[in-house]
Amino acid sequence: MLVHFNILRQTTETAPHSHTFPLEVEPSSTILDCLNRIKWEQDGTLAFRKNCRNTICGSCSMRINGRSALACKENVGQELARLQSIQAFAPESSESRPGTQTAETDIPTFTIAPMGNMPVIKDLVVDMQPFWDNLDAVDPYVSTEARQVPEREFLQTPEERDRLNQTGNCILCGACYSECNARETNPEFVGPHALAKAWRMVADSRDDRTAERLSQYNDTSGAWGCTRCYYCNSVCPMEVAPMDQIGHIKQAILATHDDQASRAIRHRKVMVDMVKTGGWIDERQFGFKVVGNSLRDIRGLASLVPLGLRMLARGKLPMTFEPSEGTREVRSLIHAVQALESKSPASPPPGPPSEKPTQSDSSTSAESSTPSNLSWAPAMPSEDSVSSSSSPSAAPVTTQVEPSPAFGWTAYAEQINGRFAMIGFVSLLLLELFTRQDFFTWLGWR
Ligand code: SF4
Ligand code: SF4
Ligand code: FES
Repeated sequence: MLVHFNILRQTTETAPHSHTFPLEVEPSSTILDCLNRIKWEQDGTLAFRKNCRNTICGSCSMRINGRSALACKENVGQELARLQSIQAFAPESSESRPGTQTAETDIPTFTIAPMGNMPVIKDLVVDMQPFWDNLDAVDPYVSTEARQVPEREFLQTPEERDRLNQTGNCILCGACYSECNARETNPEFVGPHALAKAWRMVADSRDDRTAERLSQYNDTSGAWGCTRCYYCNSVCPMEVAPMDQIGHIKQAILATHDDQASRAIRHRKVMVDMVKTGGWIDERQFGFKVVGNSLRDIRGLASLVPLGLRMLARGKLPMTFEPSEGTREVRSLIHAVQALESKSPASPPPGPPSEKPTQSDSSTSAESSTPSNLSWAPAMPSEDSVSSSSSPSAAPVTTQVEPSPAFGWTAYAEQINGRFAMIGFVSLLLLELFTRQDFFTWLGWR
């Protein structure tokens, strides 16, 4: 069958332009086979990376029909089927989509482009130095400080080793990094490949730097920089599921740090607490507690003033809070998920450093074939787990419903707290009003 390969070509000096190569291919031909034939038969200057031709070296990553993938893994038949299924969902825009069969020619067109988030060197070859630098930034090596036993290797139980299988499958192809939305907007974010590797280090029973690592990953250059778009999971050719590994890091951070350790932790904990209390978020208090750290961070609170003023001007600043009618059910769901998580033996995150087996622990447990104690700290209120598990099927698990704290002292304290928040906010607002000379201009009132 005839296929048009529309390849985006460029060098560091020239602007990108597309070049179409027609090619007679078999449905079983891989995209890499097709590119090889184009290079050998039509244009020897076409540049792309390749090595193993067997989905193992990670060299041939590129954007194939709009998403990053390995050219030696995808074949013509699969690409056609994929594009047809995409077009079936969006027939009205099919003309602009890759793989479209135009009415005039009826020839399918595949678009091939270099990976994203990395500068192009030539055609489909990108400079992967930032990718390697970001991997290096998470210190992706089992701590050598633990290697103090001269006579024998570090032993692991089969269960301890199994926990490394999924992340160990990463072939560092760059597909996830290429599609990462957080990388596009946050140059500090190390990327999904690095964080998948970071979790592999945290989960490794031989590594003795768990506490240090979790502190290192506890900011927006690390785990909290991920916007959970899911793209890395969907493009990874080795099913490493980087976003899931980032979720594990977040859970471990939440379980070992209190809400003063970072704004991101506060964000998660305050949100879960508020949803438990009122069924949804009390927006009057959310910024006050998270950004203002309950009046501990005055500068943070002041940074909210412009937003608050705009909300006030547009009548969107909530003055009161009504708990949701479904608060009790929501709270029950959260408790059910937390109870299930704390009992679930599946993929337990590693405990704090003190719970990790020492060399002698590891040897002993391996010799006796008894898994070491991997009991995890109490399940923390992770936003990820709550959102992903709040299915109707989870509801019957909970038969015990706690009395709603919407009445009595708890509710009273919440109201007082809310009033303090409002008083603090209004004070800052007035401060802003009197110190900002161009206030009304800035507000757009004159
Ligand atoms: S996590 Fe997957 S997509 Fe990302 S570099 Fe590793 S193998 Fe490639
Ligand atoms: S889920 Fe997170 S790490 Fe993965 S691509 Fe999206 S933003 Fe990047
Ligand atoms: S050539 Fe090695 S993964 Fe494609």
